[in-house]
Amino acid sequence: MTEVSLQKITKNYGQLEVVHGIDLEISHSEFVVLVGPSGCGKSTTLRMIAGLEEISGGTIKIGDKVVNNLPPRDRNISMVFQNYALYPHMSVRDNLGFGLKIAKHPEAEIVKRVENAAEILGLGMLMDRLPAALSGGQRQRVAMGRAIVRNPDVFLFDEPLSNLDAKLRVQMRTEIKKLHKRVNNTIVYVTHDQVEAMTLADRIVIMRDGHIEQVGTPLHVFENPVNTFVGSFIGSPPMNQLDGKVLSDGKSGLQIALADNIVIPVPTRARNHVSEGQDIIVGIRPDDMTPIGHGMRDDGETVSFDLMVSISEPLGTETILFSTIGAKDVQGKMLNPRPIVGDERLTFNLSLDRIHLFDAGTGNNVLGGLDD
Ligand SMILES: Nc1ncnc2c1ncn2[C@@H]1O[C@H](COP(=O)(O)OP(=O)(O)OP(=O)(O)O)[C@@H](O)[C@H]1O
Ligand SMILES: [Mg+2]
Repeated sequence: MTEVSLQKITKNYGQLEVVHGIDLEISHSEFVVLVGPSGCGKSTTLRMIAGLEEISGGTIKIGDKVVNNLPPRDRNISMVFQNYALYPHMSVRDNLGFGLKIAKHPEAEIVKRVENAAEILGLGMLMDRLPAALSGGQRQRVAMGRAIVRNPDVFLFDEPLSNLDAKLRVQMRTEIKKLHKRVNNTIVYVTHDQVEAMTLADRIVIMRDGHIEQVGTPLHVFENPVNTFVGSFIGSPPMNQLDGKVLSDGKSGLQIALADNIVIPVPTRARNHVSEGQDIIVGIRPDDMTPIGHGMRDDGETVSFDLMVSISEPLGTETILFSTIGAKDVQGKMLNPRPIVGDERLTFNLSLDRIHLFDAGTGNNVLGGLDD
């Protein structure tokens, strides 16, 4: 069942259009993450769902109701912001219950709901404290608790973890995932952090400049980026993107010439999607370029070439290897690493099954649509 439906949503600020006709269907109990660089329109989109911004065009439905002109309080949503906006003079208990009190829920009901939220979020011991006496993570939990007590159809989160330090952010990420498992409400979550997006989302929506670039499960988007933007935005370390040209291999096949006289065959699955003379961007994830003997996958089609590794970053279970192809920096990965001292020339295996080919003119994946 569709819970939130955006149809051709636009947003103008004066003359300037910042959201350009977004279509998105979000299912009941789905966890959807909007991700993209700063200024791409994530918060604006979320705030339009919340009713905190008017839409300039299109239709928003929550459940089967058009909510275009409904005020936020009538949309049955709860929003959690980056700055938790707790009432400083109220205890945790009162912060949790305040919204319900204002909405004139009966006292017994408020107590029950507040206790339930406190239990879900492990706030029991903190109920009589003031916000000033809480850690950042605890405050964040109270902010989420305030959203939970209202038992909304839809939770809207705007960068709720970005004020927390790195370690706490990872912990709270898990908390939010647990929360979703437990309450199973629909969640629309905004972040500019692609790792957060990948780890939390059932489906991830990648935005750029007020458009949606791609929608899909995290793994689908990782493995099938529609264009160079999505390819480089999703994944860490980022995808290497190298300029190449499609040439005949002198027989019946095609190959791609990269800089430094590196030539790779066109992978079988892409053969009918490129043509001789085409300028191509070859996307290679560091995981798919591994020194011989230090890879993981039992790969199908591969090709190998030598690279001079100038810098290595040991991370324990793997080492990131830095090199160049032509003028471009490239990164590979060494699994089951051994120490690398100084510059070293290594033979890398490239998994042809896992490289991505983009048309250099359009930036689009040559395999086309790639919808999930
Ligand atoms: N009140 C406003 N008046 C004019 N322009 C605005 C206003 N609010 C946002 N914008 C513009 O709309 C665009 C989208 O902003 P939005 O806040 O949605 O971005 P975002 O994706 O949430 O970015 P961030 O990751 O930095 O929070 C930006 O170019 C921004 O400058
Ligand atoms: Mg924002």
